[in-house]
Amino acid sequence: MLHELEQLPADPILGLSAACRADPNPEKVDLTLGVYKDEQGACPVFKAVQLAQRQLVEEEGTKVYMAAVGDDDFNVGIQRLTLGVDSSVLAEGRVSSIQTPGGCGALRIGAELVHTAAPQARVWVSDPTWPVHIPLLGSVGLEFRNYRYYDPVTRGVNFEAMMDDLRGAGSHDVVLLHGCCHNPCGADLGMQQWAEVAALAERQGFIPFIDFAYQGMGDGLEADAQGLRLLVSRLPEVIVAASCSKNLGLYRERTGAAIFVCRDAANATAILSQSQAAARRIYSMPPAHGALLAGRVLSDAHLGSVWRSELSTMCQRIHRLRRCLREALEKQSQRNFAFIEREKGMFSFLGLTPEQTRRLREEFSVYMLDSSRINVAGVNAENIDYVAQSVTRVLAATQ
Ligand code: LMR
Repeated sequence: MLHELEQLPADPILGLSAACRADPNPEKVDLTLGVYKDEQGACPVFKAVQLAQRQLVEEEGTKVYMAAVGDDDFNVGIQRLTLGVDSSVLAEGRVSSIQTPGGCGALRIGAELVHTAAPQARVWVSDPTWPVHIPLLGSVGLEFRNYRYYDPVTRGVNFEAMMDDLRGAGSHDVVLLHGCCHNPCGADLGMQQWAEVAALAERQGFIPFIDFAYQGMGDGLEADAQGLRLLVSRLPEVIVAASCSKNLGLYRERTGAAIFVCRDAANATAILSQSQAAARRIYSMPPAHGALLAGRVLSDAHLGSVWRSELSTMCQRIHRLRRCLREALEKQSQRNFAFIEREKGMFSFLGLTPEQTRRLREEFSVYMLDSSRINVAGVNAENIDYVAQSVTRVLAATQ
């Protein structure tokens, strides 16, 4: 039976990242996968995480299964980090969360519950969105609708078109929103726009499902959560898929949480039982290591402050890189790249065609996604001029 299965094309992100690893050119530049890299091109372990890990290794007395809901310190910590320490929905007991294998696990658990509650529900996704959203949520059986989001002409959000499209979303629909640092375009909503989305959700009855994978990488932990918190303060139900891959650097430890803001405390308890049942039928219990580390960092004042300061350094570096990359590209090409500085987080669309990105790979070993999404954190002092020159040469050659 298995012999009938065909070879699939490579993953649009992981495939290009692997191709770059295999490229022998010493000048190659990897701007593909969304992982934070420092000036040396390394994706470092946070010091706070290393400290927590030493404690954990000393103290850990068992490797018995985690509870299906995961680690308590982690669940409390991630809820407070996401919703805010003084969140009224937390005080009212309207929140439940389950530790998941990464943000992907959280998206999947959220989709499972939506499908259980309303099998006909449609998921509205931004055009464009992270390509994995579609198979991840679609394999649960949910249908999709697109809403217009990024405007390649203005290099920003086409908010009017987005709202026009979302007027078609009803009370059995969920609208997938990027909480901050939109992946792939880096163009985020402003607070006034978040307020308009909240008002539309109130009127139309749809549930926001917020992919929150980059908290702290845009303007800081608190600033990045403002849009999400505004929705939570106004709406009866919100789902959040939180990830610690980027902001705690726990990528391979698969550490995330599905957080459900519910109508009332009784409903939050019911939803928790549903989340546990959904986890049990997919993977049973979450992995322990990452969440035990994150739980320590989030619950310990000293570790927490070491971590916040490291994260803030990363965030400032991304801001600096955005400015430097804009300057380098503008100097080389005499074109306007101001949008790079306006965007948030690690990603930006350079506005190249798939053919131009192919030439960049083949002629210069500069790797970005076919959509021309780059990971800004892959740029550093050593490669920035080479990246700007290569992009400029491909642009000039293909005009
Ligand atoms: C990305 O968009 O590059 C990251 O979220 C990593 C991934 O799994 O695709």
